[in-house]
Amino acid sequence: MRVATQAISVQSVSKVYPGGVHALDGVNIDVWPGEWVAIMGPSGSGKTTLLSILNGLDKPTSGRIQMLGTDTHGFGPDDWAVFRRENIGLVFQQFHLIPYLTAVENVMLAQYYHSMPVRDQAMAALERVQLAGRAQHLPSQLSGGEQQRVCIARALINDPEIVLADEPTGNLDEENEARVLDIFRSLHGDGKTLVVVTHDPEIGYAGERIIGLGHGKVLKDARITEGDRLAQVGAATAASARSRASTE
Ligand SMILES: Nc1ncnc2c1ncn2[C@@H]1O[C@H](COP(=O)(O)OP(=O)(O)OP(=O)(O)O)[C@@H](O)[C@H]1O
Ligand SMILES: [Mg+2]
Repeated sequence: MRVATQAISVQSVSKVYPGGVHALDGVNIDVWPGEWVAIMGPSGSGKTTLLSILNGLDKPTSGRIQMLGTDTHGFGPDDWAVFRRENIGLVFQQFHLIPYLTAVENVMLAQYYHSMPVRDQAMAALERVQLAGRAQHLPSQLSGGEQQRVCIARALINDPEIVLADEPTGNLDEENEARVLDIFRSLHGDGKTLVVVTHDPEIGYAGERIIGLGHGKVLKDARITEGDRLAQVGAATAASARSRASTE
């Protein structure tokens, strides 16, 4: 019998920054292949720190991380660079696009070298986020929502198993937020593992599971039921009706 391996396994991970801030404090999380997990929690609760450790940009002070069954304990920066390139797509709130490169060149940058096959892959990734028509535009010629979709295309070019996103809709209006959610839904449909840090309950409750962090600890880890989702939609509708009423 084959035993399923976690896509991500966080084992007793703590992160103490110089000065004694316990950004993460004994965190245990298993994420299974194909799961769509939202990480929520107040500002300063350790969400970005956790994501940085999951993509190797930061190291835990103690504890272990396994990614796709590989123990990353002995990984140096080069091992992480290779692992990221092959397995992880990263999406940030700040778009981090190179201002003097076009959309398609920015997407190509995620690859080693520039060649026609890479350009074709980059175009395919832009098509996936419905931006093929903007391939030759510079970031300054794109809206915020379009720039975010270029970043998602860049994260997808290597067809990663795992997509890690930190506040991917933090700078977007509702329409663009909905487009990003559609992309996540389609990635989820393809069986990708999604870990999405968000303050926005609408984004959080679109997934399958919510992990709540507080002061660097896991305070909540729950599967989202259809009832939760409906209650969430109801609460959002009531809140927007209240805000409409108060401005009328
Ligand atoms: N490089 C650093 N050096 C020192 N302290 C840090 C560093 N990065 C984060 N911290 C501290 O660690 C704690 C967790 O920060 P983190 O960025 O993970 O929070 P967050 O949950 O992502 O917050 P937000 O919702 O505001 O993005 C905070 O108290 C923060 O000040
Ligand atoms: Mg953060």
